Amino acid sequence: MRIPESKIEEVRTSASVVDVVSEFVQLRKRGKNYIGLCPFHNEKTPSFTVSEEKQIFHCFGCHTGGNIFKFLMEFQKISFVESVQQLAEQLGITIDYEQTGYSEQQTEQEIFYDINTETAKYFSNLLLNDDEGKFAREYFQKRNIKTQTMRTFGLGYALRGWENFINFSKEKGFDEDKIVALGLVGRNKEGRVYDKFSGRIIFPIFSPNGRVVAFAGRILDDKEKSAKYLNSPESLVYIKGRTLYGLSHAKDDIRKLDKAILVEGYMDLISLYQNGAKNVVAVSGTALTDDQVQLLSRYTKNVVLLFDADTAGIKASMRSIELLLKRDMEVKIVSLPEGEDPDSFVNKYGKDEFDELIKKAENFLEYQTRYYDSLGKFDDPATAAEAIRELVKPVALINDELKRTLLLKNIAKKFNVREKLLESELIKQVNQVEKFERNKTKIKTKDDSTTSTLALTESRIESPVIYNLETEIIKLLFESDKNIKEFLFKYIQPDEFAKGFHQKIIRIIKNEFQKDENVTADLVFANLQDEQLQTYVREITFDKHSISSNWDNRFPGITDEMIVLKYSKDIVLRFRFEKIDQQIQANHRELELVEDEQAHIKIMRVNKELEEEKKRLREKLSDKELT
Ligand code: GTP
Ligand code: MN
Repeated sequence: MRIPESKIEEVRTSASVVDVVSEFVQLRKRGKNYIGLCPFHNEKTPSFTVSEEKQIFHCFGCHTGGNIFKFLMEFQKISFVESVQQLAEQLGITIDYEQTGYSEQQTEQEIFYDINTETAKYFSNLLLNDDEGKFAREYFQKRNIKTQTMRTFGLGYALRGWENFINFSKEKGFDEDKIVALGLVGRNKEGRVYDKFSGRIIFPIFSPNGRVVAFAGRILDDKEKSAKYLNSPESLVYIKGRTLYGLSHAKDDIRKLDKAILVEGYMDLISLYQNGAKNVVAVSGTALTDDQVQLLSRYTKNVVLLFDADTAGIKASMRSIELLLKRDMEVKIVSLPEGEDPDSFVNKYGKDEFDELIKKAENFLEYQTRYYDSLGKFDDPATAAEAIRELVKPVALINDELKRTLLLKNIAKKFNVREKLLESELIKQVNQVEKFERNKTKIKTKDDSTTSTLALTESRIESPVIYNLETEIIKLLFESDKNIKEFLFKYIQPDEFAKGFHQKIIRIIKNEFQKDENVTADLVFANLQDEQLQTYVREITFDKHSISSNWDNRFPGITDEMIVLKYSKDIVLRFRFEKIDQQIQANHRELELVEDEQAHIKIMRVNKELEEEKKRLREKLSDKELT
């Protein structure tokens, strides 16, 4: 069931992003754009911006943004296909689906979801009502879990024996290969199938939209020899490293409180939730992954780590801190009293004490310092130096330069070391991180001539003039009509851009422009594909200083088109001048090196020619009527 590209285009071009967003968010007009309170994070002053002209939205607070489909997907937690279908229906557009291999995968996925849903109901019913389920009910009672909580999380019980689930699945007509793929049953060498979760209490694992994607089963008796928890394998509907347990339950509270508490276990999450701490997600068994961090960052940038106090917990914390910092999350760490986990703590001390504990969360520097201190690292100057170096390491992962600097000051003050010393250490580390990232992307994009967007972390300090001109040109290409685009492409080539990711953006625009000179901004956005790059472009094109408002003051009464043309000429002139000046300077440097007189003269001549070129450009591009 595939929607043809042309239909998607038709829906996109027929809809108005402002109309659609207005149904859910109160928007006010400001300048060319509309603004409102962002529905994707908690805010008091509006940073959510919608552009009718570009047909996209962007939030300057949480950086969520994209086209009309993206809005519906994010807002309603629906898939891309569903967002197209929904809009099409509203607009009265009929979709004729293409029959392709893709359709089978789509429906197979649906079948997997159906099997999981039916199965979760089956396990839940056994826990709540079955005679044998009595043990499981008592187990949960012992652990203070209320019946209502069992319902909320769809908890269940799998009967002992090898064929109970199999019989149920036969009744239901589930396909045997599919229940094997979902890990609900195993198949032995002889090809016989058997129940996998038998005798365990069951935790269904949900997608962020609340669909059952997998199961975890815990043994009832800790003395049992088998693994304490058994997990579904990855499948068409379940990727472990992209799932956070409890997110579908917690996401609203995470947004509301603008904070997420990260715990290790299923029971930790459930107990906290039952006690009223509902902004909790669990990593459950795996170490935190970058995908999970990205998933969480859609809801909040503030994370409190609440891992067990054991060595494994500390190790997990350290690793998680790094991942979170890399995504510019604010990380705090809570240390539990020895021997407790979040579940036991909240059951022993209650919600108020728990809230106090969370309030005492340390920032990662304090936490790590205390940890190294507890290892006695600061007692000896040699190990102290090493420990301080270790402390600088995570700081290097932070992209925000200002934040980095502040943290460094913090360390310097704490240990009474010279800030310069730490700074040089930091620079070393930052370079290492960047080199590592660059190498990583080099491998990834070996046959791709375009620079990867990870280069976005490239230093922007090199030539701020060129950098700013480049962003202005990109802005113009997004704002302007075909005449301006034609003008810009006449004078500027993508390859001339200093920043690799700028080149990539310009190439895409040029390419689309050559296909259709009336290309719209949202189509270009769709072609950018890379999410980081899209965010970047939205940030620069939605810049608060719109082109016309600046010029309006200086030349009252002129039309928008005139302003944009005038501005484009100005930018092109400055860009060309900058390029020529760079060339001239390079030639000057060479002059100092060459001894041969003929060569000297030649270079001087080239420079003179370049100066002439500047003159010609000025004649051609300066707008006499306006200046
Ligand atoms: P309870 O003992 O029921 O309170 O669970 P817990 O969450 O406190 O267990 P623990 O701290 O031992 O483990 C934390 C998390 O690691 C669990 O919630 C599971 O997600 C995971 N885990 C623990 N033991 C196993 C295991 O044997 N196999 C797998 N796959 N995961 C496990
Ligand atoms: Mn526990």
